[in-house]
Amino acid sequence: MTGLFITLEGPEGAGKSTNREYLAERLRAEGIEVLLTREPGGTPLAERIREVLLTPGDEQMNPDTELLLVFAARAQHLAEVIRPALARGAVVICDRFTDSTYAYQGGGRGLSLERIATLETFVQGDLRPDLTLVFDLPVEVGMARATARGRLDRFELETRVFFEAVRSAFLKRAEADPARYYLLDAALPLTQVQQSIDALLPKLVERVRG
Ligand SMILES: Nc1ncnc2c1ncn2[C@@H]1O[C@H](COP(=O)(O)OP(=O)(O)O)[C@@H](O)[C@H]1O
Ligand SMILES: [Mg+2]
Repeated sequence: MTGLFITLEGPEGAGKSTNREYLAERLRAEGIEVLLTREPGGTPLAERIREVLLTPGDEQMNPDTELLLVFAARAQHLAEVIRPALARGAVVICDRFTDSTYAYQGGGRGLSLERIATLETFVQGDLRPDLTLVFDLPVEVGMARATARGRLDRFELETRVFFEAVRSAFLKRAEADPARYYLLDAALPLTQVQQSIDALLPKLVERVRG
């Protein structure tokens, strides 16, 4: 038995964290084992790497350093949490995964997509998410929501140009593989976003029960 690997993607303020709980509850109500986790992070060591990645500091972080830290945290998370959960047949819901690396380090920082793809295969082998929900919304809406939430992290302090590039990268990936990606209009009221998630549920439950 292998589980199902679902990732939630999109910029800050898109509603990933809000809706991951919702999706998990809906699946648990069907009697399905759900493991809810996030990136960067998901294990004590990977959460320490997250702190390094998100904390603003005086020393400029080199983009390659950032990329390698993201994948270092991911290697730990996969080994300790994600792969064992999938192996026992659980549904893993992960708040951000490698699509965020393509969007932030690739789109935002301008790092080579080929290099990211090389690291993706190095760290993940052939493991890719079965389903990726992309929460899409205009940059200013996301930035306003993130700002209202409190103090901004190292990424949230980035410019509008950076976030436009992040958004385009997510959209491009979603368009290139409609079988894997499910695009949601995250600017809609929460109840409507959740209705779009509900629409996914019957097929998801069927897939898990095989
Ligand atoms: N559809 C929505 N409409 C309005 N506000 C929302 C919606 N979804 C989430 N929010 C609010 O926006 C903020 C950011 O949501 P959050 O789930 O933390 O986003 P993310 O995890 O994608 O950064 C929170 O205050 C949340 O309550
Ligand atoms: Mg969040």
